[in-house]
Amino acid sequence: MIKLDDVWYKYPKSDFWVLKNVSLTLPGKGLYFLLGPNGSGKTTLLKIMGLLYKPQKGTIQICGKTVDWKSNVDKLRRCTIYVHETPVMFRGTVRRNIEYPLLIRGIVRREQVVKTARLFGIEPLLDKPARNLSRGQQQLVALARALAPKPKILLLDEPFSHLGWNLRKRIIDIIIRYSDNALVLVATHDTYLAKEKGKGYLYFDEHGLEYSRFFPLFVL
Ligand SMILES: Nc1ncnc2c1ncn2[C@@H]1O[C@H](COP(=O)(O)OP(=O)(O)OP(=O)(O)O)[C@@H](O)[C@H]1O
Ligand SMILES: [Mg+2]
Repeated sequence: MIKLDDVWYKYPKSDFWVLKNVSLTLPGKGLYFLLGPNGSGKTTLLKIMGLLYKPQKGTIQICGKTVDWKSNVDKLRRCTIYVHETPVMFRGTVRRNIEYPLLIRGIVRREQVVKTARLFGIEPLLDKPARNLSRGQQQLVALARALAPKPKILLLDEPFSHLGWNLRKRIIDIIIRYSDNALVLVATHDTYLAKEKGKGYLYFDEHGLEYSRFFPLFVL
């Protein structure tokens, strides 16, 4: 579950608010989409939900707790994972990349790494240096790395941008299955996909956040 209440955000040294008075609630499970034109604030909002950016104003509830940036934020960060639009690979092998979030969460690793790699079809890449992979392969590794520790909230920023059609379909199916037990929010420009597959979507309108409206449409 994520609940934002009157959240305001602007970037350091910037004098314009990217998010103004944002209040919304998303449930604990299901696949939801975040739509809006370039520069409207999708990435910013996901990073706030991932507790990577601290809003100047407002409160965030996540996984049943109110975020206190001085006390419980590190703990709450473990229940949410944000996946960047451009995949970011850690140094070392694919195996190490997938292992790392498991390691910091104290989860038994070996089996989970192989199982997740198999799910994403990247088992043959496990011993290759992650930074030498193609963009599409890196995107798969980034997604596998995010799903492996089974976060309650998964935030995906344009996760299909480097994938061909076959893989895209496979990944969508994996995400849909994953959303049976977790909240998945996907930022995308693919309105058709959002309406077709989402339980609902959030929309930034073209004038930016000043005029933004959020209307979860429960289309399924
Ligand atoms: N690091 C930054 N410093 C200052 N302003 C920023 C920074 N990152 C983004 N912005 C501004 O914040 C606004 C929202 O950007 P954001 O990246 O959240 O949009 P977006 O909806 O994800 O766009 P896109 O669809 O192109 O990915 C834009 O006006 C952008 O110029
Ligand atoms: Mg973005």
